[in-house]
Amino acid sequence: MTTAKPLRVGMVGYAFMGAAHSHAWRTAPRFFDLPLDPQLTALCGRNDDGVRAAAGKLGWGSVETDWRRLLERDDIDLIDICTPGNTHAEIAIAALEAGKHVLCEKPLANSVAEAERMTEAAQAAAERGVFSMCGFSYRRTPALALAKRMVEEGRLGTIRHVRAQYLQDWLSDENAPMTWRLDKSKSGSGSLGDIGAHSIDAAQWVTGQQITGVSALLETFVHERPLAGDLVGLGGHGDVGADAPRGAVTVDDAAIFTARFSGDGLDGGTTSAAPSGSSRPRGSRWDARTPCAWKSTGPRPPSRSTSKR
Ligand SMILES: NC(=O)c1ccc[n+]([C@@H]2O[C@H](COP(=O)([O-])OP(=O)(O)OC[C@H]3O[C@@H](n4cnc5c(N)ncnc54)[C@H](O)[C@@H]3O)[C@@H](O)[C@H]2O)c1
Repeated sequence: MTTAKPLRVGMVGYAFMGAAHSHAWRTAPRFFDLPLDPQLTALCGRNDDGVRAAAGKLGWGSVETDWRRLLERDDIDLIDICTPGNTHAEIAIAALEAGKHVLCEKPLANSVAEAERMTEAAQAAAERGVFSMCGFSYRRTPALALAKRMVEEGRLGTIRHVRAQYLQDWLSDENAPMTWRLDKSKSGSGSLGDIGAHSIDAAQWVTGQQITGVSALLETFVHERPLAGDLVGLGGHGDVGADAPRGAVTVDDAAIFTARFSGDGLDGGTTSAAPSGSSRPRGSRWDARTPCAWKSTGPRPPSRSTSKR
């Protein structure tokens, strides 16, 4: 039995990442000796039946149907935001102002202006002892953490060139249904924000440098997709037959960019959620010159497939 002080979590959104976060909050103290004891206190969704069913399945103690209610509750210490990007800024800023710690999923925001407002709110909250972070989960993969340590210890010398690539194939099928991820008003961008954000964060985090300039190409390969009944998750749910009504894809399927780092290094980034070709590559890869590489294959980053060159 732990004697650690409780960390009472209120989570917004309960689909793909909501399930992953629920699992993580529950199991983290079983793997690590944590200074705080996470408790799955309240789950929030917009649909009463849906959120109750999810809370039962995922192990949450109570439910709310409006995230603002979580902020009013004295028994919540931290707000965990697992909703689409168009909701991040409003929820995160209100939560910080209410004195709640915030874990916000990536990409942080859908625009620079939103991200700057969130940063200001986080800085002001930090002065009051309130913590916040963005869910760049790849930072916690052992290979990437080791790469960062090697850079910090000077074992790689001067970083002159970083190459990052993140490919996913789940949109290769042009009948894969619409989800909120393909609607710019909700997601802000497509492959760039959904998976490219991880590559960009990893490159900046490992090198300790900021990207100061960028030149990029964005491309949409599939302009219309079947409208599914429920636009949640990676695949959506609903009728995706040939006669199903189709909706306009308003985000990029692929993004390719070159960038300049604050330390004069260069980055070459590729990210695609709908690569063409029969080999259907998946996975993410990050190399820095001098020689150092991190590579993961498969839809999620397995720790066993790391490589060092
Ligand atoms: N760190 C990672 O590796 C990783 C992986 C996948 C997704 N994400 C991020 O997680 C976030 C959520 O993505 P997802 O894949 O879980 O999406 P999802 O579609 O599976 O789930 C979104 C959830 O948000 C809920 N929701 C939407 N608007 C809401 C609102 N206004 N109030 C309350 N609930 C609302 C939906 O009902 C659903 O439960 C996104 O920012 C995404 O980029 C991060």
